[in-house]
Parts: sequence; C-alpha cells; structure tokens
Amino acid sequence: MINPHGGKLINRFAADEEKKILREKIPGLKSIRLNKRQISDVEMISIGGYSPLEGFMEKEVYESVLHNMRLPDNIVWPIPITLAVNKETANNFETGEDIGLLNESGAGIAILHLKEKYSYDKELEAEKVYLTKDIKHPGVDYLYSQSDVYLGGKIDVIEKPAHHKFARYYLPPSETRNIFEKNGWTTIVGFQTRNPVHRAHEYIQKCALEIFDGLFLHPIVGETKGDDIPADIRMKCYEALIEKYYPADRIILAINPSSMRYAGPREAIFHAIIRKNYGCTHFIVGRDHAGVGNYYGTYDAQKIFSRFTHEDIGITPLFFEHTFYCMKCEAMASSKTCPHSKEHHIILSGTAVRKMLQEGEIPPVEFTRPAIAQILIDSMKNKK
Ligand code: ADX
Repeated sequence: MINPHGGKLINRFAADEEKKILREKIPGLKSIRLNKRQISDVEMISIGGYSPLEGFMEKEVYESVLHNMRLPDNIVWPIPITLAVNKETANNFETGEDIGLLNESGAGIAILHLKEKYSYDKELEAEKVYLTKDIKHPGVDYLYSQSDVYLGGKIDVIEKPAHHKFARYYLPPSETRNIFEKNGWTTIVGFQTRNPVHRAHEYIQKCALEIFDGLFLHPIVGETKGDDIPADIRMKCYEALIEKYYPADRIILAINPSSMRYAGPREAIFHAIIRKNYGCTHFIVGRDHAGVGNYYGTYDAQKIFSRFTHEDIGITPLFFEHTFYCMKCEAMASSKTCPHSKEHHIILSGTAVRKMLQEGEIPPVEFTRPAIAQILIDSMKNKK
C-alpha cells in the first residue's frame, strides 16, 4: 500500500471520550462561524485527506507553500490551507487560546489551538497560486472577498458534516485504504472531477482500467462555482453510468468533501496528493485539469509535475491528451491516436453543452450518453 503524503495518515478526529469533553468545552470558548470552504477544509484535515497537515497553516508554512510549493520540512504542498477572519475578531483572540469552530448553523464542530495570527498579501497569493490577479477568476474572487487575518494552529474535530445526500458514498482515506487492500488491488487510479461525466471522462477512465487493478472515482462535493452542476446531480449521473456500463467490482465511487480552487497546475498537484492519501498509486491528469476560462494552458497542469521528482510526489500522474470522438475513426481518440483533421472530431465547449441541455436538447451521443444527458435536462427543468 502506498504511504500517505509525509508518511503518516493524519487523524484529527477526537476519540469518543474526548469528543464529549470538547463538546462541553466549546460553548465556553470564543468562536468563529465557518463558511462552506472552511468546513470542508476542517473535514479534510481531520480525516487525513490533507496529510500531513494537522491544522490551518501558520505563517512560516504559508509562506513556504506560496513561494516554494513545499512545507518548511521540504514536503511538497502547493495550496495554502488557511483560515481567514476579520481584524476585529483576530484582535479578540490571544495566541495560545483554544477557539471554537462552528458550522453554518452555529453548532460546534472543532477546536482550533491558536498558534499564530498574521496578515497576508492577497495579490501575492493570487499571483502565486492562481497565476492571475483577475477578479473574474473564481479562486481569486474568493481570495479577495476573504477577511484580512489568517489564524494558524492545529485542530481537533468532534463533528463531521452529515453528507446526508451522499452518506453511502462517504469513505475517509482510512476506509478506502482498507477496501483497496481487501480487494487485493495493488495499482489504483484516482480520478478527480467536478463536472458531469461525459464520454471523454469515461474513455480516459477505462483506458486506465485496462492497465491498473482498480479505479477510484472521486468527485468533489465541496464548494464549486455557481454555474457548475450541483454535486447530487453529478453523483446521479455516475450512478446511472456505473449501473449500466462499468464493471462494479473494479471501481469505487466515493465523495471528495473538499472544495474546488480552480488553481489549475497547482491544484493538479494538490488533487494528486489527496488521492495518494486515499491510497491511490496513480492519478489521471487530462486537459486543463482544475482549470477555468483561459487562465491556464491546456497542458500546464501536466507540465508542473516535471518540477518535482517521483519521490517528491509519490503518486504517479497519468497524462491524457485532449480526447474527443472522431467520426472517421468511429471511436474516442486524441491527437496521439487519430490521424484525421479537426472537422471529423466532435468537440463541444462546456458552454455549448449547457445551452443545449437548458433547451432540453440531448447533445450528440458521441459526446455524452443520452441517459446522462436526460438526468441533466431533468435537473435543469426542476431548478426552473
Ligand atoms: S476538473 O476541474 O475536475 O479537472 P473535469 O471534471 O471536467 O474538471 O475533469 C476531470 C478530469 O478529466 C481532469 O483530469 C481533466 O483534465 C480530464 N478531462 C476532462 N475532459 C477531458 C477531455 N476531453 N480530454 C482529456 N481529459 C479530459
């Protein structure tokens, strides 16, 4: 079994006896109400999805990540995991103090052992992480709307979100590791996704399944940008597809509670590390992975891996070219396998597909399976 990032699977979930004590303690503490992204980070830290992180980043760690894509002990880490609060709130907290972390409805879910408070430069973070300062970039927009002070320190978690809609797909890294072992899988391919599954996804997943023991489908269900398709609909699409077209004994479908950043290249490394923590040995990186708009080159999220050694990352990336259906090949293909010119390729932009679905029109079967398109059309009708 592949080692977790940093060597040890982190567990910041309090044991049952301790939970009781912490639960009683929180109402007496100063507290912060977290937003969805922060709640998902708390959860990912607690279950070891972000191993080796044990809490929100302190200044030295944050700066090392920003400038070097590494933690101070040299372990690769590309994305700041931070907790922003406004100046007034920060002034009210003493370092060394325990702070209650509350969910959106005000219930205590964790304790932050506050080690440090520090201000940060939003423009610098935008440039380093997102490679743009453009407010139209959803990651930059989130960053600029954040409060001005970061709180750093380890956390202890007492309550994980219920994930009502997806309870049966909730598998923390400790469980997926057990399942992979029980299945006798030694090579497992992780697949990150935030979009409804289409033929290109299916193709690259199945190419990988031709070679490796198991496929770990791991859609993000944390926060995504407003016009992305909601997670419950995307999960329905996967259920329909798996039922009819996938070998059930060779795949595991589980939710990934974390939130999208849309940081393209840096996020591809982040996504790979998360799947390594879940026990995957390989990770698919296709075209414009975790990208948005035209902020990143089509293969930038693949190129960034060459800046690190295999020992640095541990999990092996599988790079896929932009794939499409070719009418002459009568098959899915990419520029690596297809000799025909573009006019024979069925390539649709996300915007074009969204428009078709909104108008109740099923996109070409070569782009998406009709059963999946129907689920998407019905969900859009219901939304209206
Ligand atoms: S992402 O933000 O999670 O990357 P999406 O869910 O669309 O978006 O993609 C999931 C994975 O499939 C990513 O690795 C992405 O690069 C890859 N991918 C999506 N579409 C294609 C395609 N047409 N050809 C090759 N890879 C693709």
